Amino acid sequence: MEALLEEATEKLEKKGFIDIEIPEGIDLIAEINRMRKEKNAIILAHYYQIPEIQDIADFLGDSLQLSRAAAETDADMIVFCGVHFMAEAAKILNPTKKVVLPDLKAGCSLADSCTGEGLRAMRAEHPNAIVVSYINCDADVKAESDIIVTSSNAKTILDSLPADQEIIFAPDKNLGRYLNKVTGRNMILWDGSCIVHEAFSLEKIARQLSEHPNAKLIAHPEAEEAVLNASDFIGSTSRLLNFIKTDEAEEFIVATEAGILHEMQKLAPGKKLIPAMTDEDNSCNCSECFFMKRNTIEKIYLCMKYELPEILIDEDLRVRAERSINRMMELSAQVK
Ligand code: 13P
Ligand code: SF4
Repeated sequence: MEALLEEATEKLEKKGFIDIEIPEGIDLIAEINRMRKEKNAIILAHYYQIPEIQDIADFLGDSLQLSRAAAETDADMIVFCGVHFMAEAAKILNPTKKVVLPDLKAGCSLADSCTGEGLRAMRAEHPNAIVVSYINCDADVKAESDIIVTSSNAKTILDSLPADQEIIFAPDKNLGRYLNKVTGRNMILWDGSCIVHEAFSLEKIARQLSEHPNAKLIAHPEAEEAVLNASDFIGSTSRLLNFIKTDEAEEFIVATEAGILHEMQKLAPGKKLIPAMTDEDNSCNCSECFFMKRNTIEKIYLCMKYELPEILIDEDLRVRAERSINRMMELSAQVK
């Protein structure tokens, strides 16, 4: 085990995940379940994970729900099936727990677009502004921010701030533009975007709508303005799930990461769910986050076995980043 661990750690630095061949015949799900009990581990998964991972999760949620679950758990190990900034947020909120992420290269284009240093420079240009950042950012950006928001609680939090408060919003310009519209604010926007939600083709969606005249178009606010303008409903991951369950329509064109369709179909088994099309010519023509899809059952098994890759964070940075997340928790306690 020692030698294997050494080999695994070496590879980890290059590949971002444990790359050890798994002997044939191992029942990975049974082994994951055994380790989950033995190691007192909890598996948290985002709705954008592959269906097999969603199905083995102890807790499935959107960014806000996952942060809360990570903060509240008394498990010894949090196996975070999502992307790096989410696992990092779990460690920030619950530092005494071991937090592992099956693949360290599960990143995010939004998080990659913004740095603490860049944000400091922007703040220097607007000395009276406070910084509100979307949770899709790294710890150094969270540490430079006054308040963190998710797409579920952003409007509630912004509405609780004085109307004349100058605000810098980072890093998602699409979400920021949408929030400016629904809150009547004029926030200064960082120029970042989600490559997955920007990929939708309005032209192809228009064709889909004409082929399905009774369908409603629903979109995540990370999508571009033109798609949002054409949508019947705009909401965070959990709001979209709730909408298709409760709305009277029988057909929906869904403009968000396609992984969500797995849970949507479970919640509304009789309804027709159509993934909105992108410009890309991939197999499904839908939008998939390849960062989220880096996690696999094999990587989860290895990650639980070796308890690697582990998320570690400098304590001073953690404390600074925790402040802005705690502000979010206080200001959005009533948001589901
Ligand atoms: P929510 O889970 O907060 O809706 O965010 C969507 C997303 O893009 C996660 O990376
Ligand atoms: Fe980041 Fe977009 Fe992927 Fe979410 S869907 S993790 S915002 S790249």
